[in-house]
Amino acid sequence: MGKIIAIANQKGGVGKTTTTINLGAALALENKKVLIIDLDPQANATIGLGLQREMIHLTSYDVLTKSICLKDAIYQQTMNHLDLIPANIALENIGEQLYAYNEKEKILSRKLENIQNEYDYILLDCPPSVGVLIDNALFASHSVLIPVECEYFAYDALTQMVRKIQQIQNKKKEYGSSLTIEGVLLTKLDNRNVFGYRIVDKVKELFPDKTFKTIISHSSHLQEAPMHGKSVLEFAYNSRGSKQYRELAQELLQNHQKED
Ligand SMILES: Nc1ncnc2c1ncn2[C@@H]1O[C@H](COP(=O)(O)OP(=O)(O)OP(=O)(O)O)[C@@H](O)[C@H]1O
Ligand SMILES: [Mg+2]
Repeated sequence: MGKIIAIANQKGGVGKTTTTINLGAALALENKKVLIIDLDPQANATIGLGLQREMIHLTSYDVLTKSICLKDAIYQQTMNHLDLIPANIALENIGEQLYAYNEKEKILSRKLENIQNEYDYILLDCPPSVGVLIDNALFASHSVLIPVECEYFAYDALTQMVRKIQQIQNKKKEYGSSLTIEGVLLTKLDNRNVFGYRIVDKVKELFPDKTFKTIISHSSHLQEAPMHGKSVLEFAYNSRGSKQYRELAQELLQNHQKED
């Protein structure tokens, strides 16, 4: 059965989308079948993977609000083994759309039931907000990967995120399912700045067993790749950013092997 992982942190700009795209690409390169679902009205993962607006007929908004099959909203990417369900701005009003809907946090989870076995990994790129989208993502997921930028405010926001996860964990328990923390991923580390390393130490203290060994450095290649509609692996395979996301994929795969 495929593993569903939410890439989430309500703090903006911490590297959620960059991680979703590049971890997804790195897993696909390891011959894992990967589906990325863009759940952010900003549609950064959609744009970053180079899917042109005119090519898009159905999005995650349609999946969540209409009685369509999730399969119909899947678009194959240029990279082998990598599929995408795109997003668009319509997602911004999803709260109002689903206002009268019963058990609205379970829609995505139900829609994924039929497709889960066709993928090794399903990565959900979450928006930087709290609300029905993040609830749907966490409800559908087996685990959550939390990117944390190596700066103080991002560290502070981590405690709020943990509270949110606990809330959903309690709710899911009532239904006999669970949500684990896949890991906390430190991102955008500026190797010349001592302060960044202090944040690394603090996060490791808080999550001694759950902080990924792989740390993502600040990298201009990671910033530039989405402008070309490509993952950093396709854009600059030998760059540091590409190497670090490939290492992250290895670490994640090894952790899962240990679990099996
Ligand atoms: N390791 C990195 N080094 C340098 N820049 C990075 C790195 N990771 C992400 N960025 C840049 O930081 C910005 C925010 O990254 P990203 O979009 O991945 O964050 P996000 O958490 O998805 O943001 P949002 O909360 O808005 O969805 C982008 O411009 C991205 O290119
Ligand atoms: Mg994002």
